Amino acid sequence: MKILLVFALMFSTYAFAQSGHDHQDKSQSGGDQHGDMHDDHHGKGMHGGMHGGMHGGGHKLDKATLKHFFEPLPASIIDENKNAALIKLGKKLYSDPRLSVNDQISCNSCHRLDNFGVDSQATSPGHEGKRGGRNSPTTFNAALHIAQFWDGRAKDVEEQALGPILNPIEMGMPNEAAVVDKLKKIDEYKALFAEAFKGEKDPIQYKNVGVAIGAFERTLLTPSRFDDYLKGDEKALNDAEKRGLQKFVHMGCANCHNGVAIGGNSYKKIGLVEPYETKDMGRFAVTGLETDKKVFKVPSLRNITKTAPYFHDGSVATLDEAIREMAEHQLGREVGPGFVDDVKAFLGSLTAKGKE
Ligand code: HEC
Ligand code: HEC
Repeated sequence: MKILLVFALMFSTYAFAQSGHDHQDKSQSGGDQHGDMHDDHHGKGMHGGMHGGMHGGGHKLDKATLKHFFEPLPASIIDENKNAALIKLGKKLYSDPRLSVNDQISCNSCHRLDNFGVDSQATSPGHEGKRGGRNSPTTFNAALHIAQFWDGRAKDVEEQALGPILNPIEMGMPNEAAVVDKLKKIDEYKALFAEAFKGEKDPIQYKNVGVAIGAFERTLLTPSRFDDYLKGDEKALNDAEKRGLQKFVHMGCANCHNGVAIGGNSYKKIGLVEPYETKDMGRFAVTGLETDKKVFKVPSLRNITKTAPYFHDGSVATLDEAIREMAEHQLGREVGPGFVDDVKAFLGSLTAKGKE
């Protein structure tokens, strides 16, 4: 498989180089590419390379190719009217430092709502300034991912939210009962929980903290110009962005970064083609499988121009470098400034509309 992959990539490199990039390749809108589109849905490595090789060229991707790789953001993934009380409670909890042992740290400290859901640091200072080894990913659009955390160890945002509160280097609460006791002494929460969990006898439960925060996080979707483009608004992207999108697909980035979150839907090894140096074994810690060493959840690229630094350990400072490293380590390709600039332009179209 690996040899095949490398071969496919070499072939794609060759064909891509041959195709130039100014002319409009007519074969793109032809029927031939449909053949390789049915299986291998969300990126198993080879597809994009071959695809790129066969169809490199023009600036325009046809609708079928776009649809194959990407999906626009849904308008909503939670009924915000029906769950208004729950979401209101979740939002309050998300930003409340009283959920931490010293009343100093909230979810919002590391996942700032006014800063694209991140704190812009390589690793985040938690309780008593202690830092873990991983970069804080954004909470924006995270509810769409197949699972939570870089290694996918929590199944959804509801489950995930219960981790940091008890984590000694994050919010540092000693145990679930201590959190519940603390909340029960706050009148405002008595009312908010009662309203959010109507009909429950004892609504202030640890589990319900997660349910409420998760409900709030489900509202953190950020529609972008790329979504408008996917829905058929040709003018939503400018020429550089369209060029970048095409390069992103043809180079093979979209093999892994695809779907509704442009990532977040699969696990892949960092250093798939060119080995990548890291002590973090990623998903291996969750599954114990040898093949999961250095495997991480493929990050979503929504709002990516706003969420530096990059990679699981925050070791990559700029998006330019992240793009170059990805091309090298995941695809075995060296890319120049033209590629980086165009792809970066495309990635900018994934930023929340109105906040670019
Ligand atoms: C001290 C900083 C810190 C605090 C406080 C914190 N987080 Fe995080 N958060 C992180 C880090 C670091 C990770 C990645 C850890 C990992 O993958 O192992 C993370 C991961 C996540 C993820 C997963 C996103 C993804 O793409 O997989 C979500 C969702 C999240 N946090 C929500 C929350 C919520 C909700 C709270 C409050 C209850 C919270 N965080 C508190 C630092 C923090
Ligand atoms: C084989 C799968 C795969 C391919 C192909 C791939 N990526 Fe990635 N990408 C990943 C994984 C896995 C990570 C997380 C790596 C880590 O943090 O260790 C990642 C991380 C990133 C990041 C940093 C995200 C963040 O939040 O820190 C960017 C930006 C990125 N990729 C862009 C690209 C671009 C551009 C291409 C094409 C040149 C590309 N990727 C090709 C799997 C892939």
